[in-house]
Amino acid sequence: MTQLSDTVKLNDGASMPRLGYGTYKVGDDEAQEAVEAALATGYRLIDTAEMYGNEVGVGRAVNGSGVPRSEVFLTTKVWNDHHGAKAAREALEASLERLGTDYLDLYLIHWPSPKQGLYVETYEALLQAKADGLIRSAGVSNFNPEHLEQVHEGTGVWPAVNQVELHPYFNQPELRAWQAERGIATESWGPLGQRTGSVLAEPAVTAAAEAHGRTPGQVVIRWHLQNGCIVIPKSAKPSRIAENFDVFGFELTAQEVAAISALETGERQGIDPASGER
Ligand SMILES: NC(=O)c1ccc[n+]([C@@H]2O[C@H](COP(=O)([O-])OP(=O)(O)OC[C@H]3O[C@@H](n4cnc5c(N)ncnc54)[C@H](OP(=O)(O)O)[C@@H]3O)[C@@H](O)[C@H]2O)c1
Repeated sequence: MTQLSDTVKLNDGASMPRLGYGTYKVGDDEAQEAVEAALATGYRLIDTAEMYGNEVGVGRAVNGSGVPRSEVFLTTKVWNDHHGAKAAREALEASLERLGTDYLDLYLIHWPSPKQGLYVETYEALLQAKADGLIRSAGVSNFNPEHLEQVHEGTGVWPAVNQVELHPYFNQPELRAWQAERGIATESWGPLGQRTGSVLAEPAVTAAAEAHGRTPGQVVIRWHLQNGCIVIPKSAKPSRIAENFDVFGFELTAQEVAAISALETGERQGIDPASGER
């Protein structure tokens, strides 16, 4: 399996690369160079968001890279202050403008923002945008099963993707299984688990790295892939952008995967979507 052929078939028939490049905290000024480095390395999935404030730089890189647009899988997300049918459509059109493209491969609702009570209506707007050809796939982020159930009840459709916090300290095995049963692809954000504590310094990770002659970052990215997740590590450093992509030449043993999964703490590093804080 090579990086480019390793794709997931989404529940709407589209194919999505399983390894991508995340751009959170990459500023608009540095995004162009970073995404150009990612595309030159071979990444074909690029993840941004309205909220990251870097869509102009990301778009410049995608459009100037020489890689045909049809070979890049571009994701962005609608932020919480643009929930509702009209606001979401306007946010999508503004993202397309900033990205300099006439379609997205995947558009996500960034958070359910349950206090607003508008995520089902917002998802309907995404489905309308799909019907209108502005997006190829519609998905969500940070949705718990209760939010996914509401979307399904309101629209008859399960989102193609749910992008959630997922790393060895917070494995989300129940959510992964629940989503797999419904054909919802799981995409891991914060995959290296570096926000609190350091997954990369854990003995279970460093031992596997040593055994395979790989880096801790590569081992954790493999752990995601072998768990069936789509994974989008971010680095602003060209050497790490390359390192994080070079993960297809080895395989963790079942014991190594289990030892890394045993790092589970049950604690999120980010906000619980059910809390309504976002
Ligand atoms: N939907 C959501 O709510 C949500 C939330 C958060 C993130 N995301 C998405 O998920 C992507 C990834 O999450 P993230 O950026 O929060 O975290 P991450 O990719 O898990 O970690 C990024 C951090 O790890 C460092 N790093 C990267 N590769 C490394 C390596 N091989 N060895 C050691 N350190 C390494 C980076 O530093 P350097 O840059 O200095 O290399 C950066 O500090 C984001 O960029 C964004 O696209 C989505």
